Amino acid sequence: MTCRRGAIIVLEGVDKAGKTTQCKKLVQTLQDNGVPAEMFRFPERTTKIGQLISSYLENKNNLEDHTVHLLFSANRWELVPLMKEKLEQGISLVVDRYAFSGVAFTSAKPGFSLDWCMNPDVGLPKPDLVMFLKVNPSEAARRGQYGTERYETSAFQNAVQQRFEKLMKDPTINWQVIDAARNIEDVHTDIMNHSVNAINKAANTPIGELWK
Ligand SMILES: Nc1ncnc2c1ncn2[C@@H]1O[C@H](COP(=O)(O)OP(=O)(O)O)[C@@H](O)[C@H]1O
Ligand SMILES: [Mg+2]
Repeated sequence: MTCRRGAIIVLEGVDKAGKTTQCKKLVQTLQDNGVPAEMFRFPERTTKIGQLISSYLENKNNLEDHTVHLLFSANRWELVPLMKEKLEQGISLVVDRYAFSGVAFTSAKPGFSLDWCMNPDVGLPKPDLVMFLKVNPSEAARRGQYGTERYETSAFQNAVQQRFEKLMKDPTINWQVIDAARNIEDVHTDIMNHSVNAINKAANTPIGELWK
């Protein structure tokens, strides 16, 4: 019998929805229950491409909008061999943002169609589950000041939220909307339940290809 593969579980949402908090908790609870799991995040700022993205986000350098979109996509692609290796070892990946953020952010800029934005990510390993942490922007704003990075303004975050709503209409993706306005533990319980289901379901199916 072949080894059960791990699942790809993605958390999406606007800034301060609680993605990083919940990714860390999910990995911990899965591990505590004997389920192999590791966290991934995008952008992954430690690679060469990631460093370019990071200094762009910190407003330390300017990049042309198409170029930066392609760099974000390249940053996902460069991690694909490692992701596949882990999945084949039976490790589930809990991913803090993925292609959906990439598309939602660039397509919130003027002159970018959803279709153009999706193209570079077509064929990435397809998530078995994508949870959208939903909080209204005013609730998110109460969780603290926006930082000083690019995109961290409420007007831009509102536009991003609208693009996510469009992406969530895609029935080829296993979207689950999570009410992330609740306390951290209640949100976690919900996320854990969806994740266990996805991990069990993914185990004996091949890894899919995103948007193909
Ligand atoms: N359910 C929640 N209720 C209240 N505050 C939260 C909740 N989840 C996260 N936070 C807080 O909100 C801030 C943003 O959380 P974070 O996980 O970094 O969000 P994201 O990664 O989506 O930007 C942090 O200070 C975190 O402690
Ligand atoms: Mg975060």
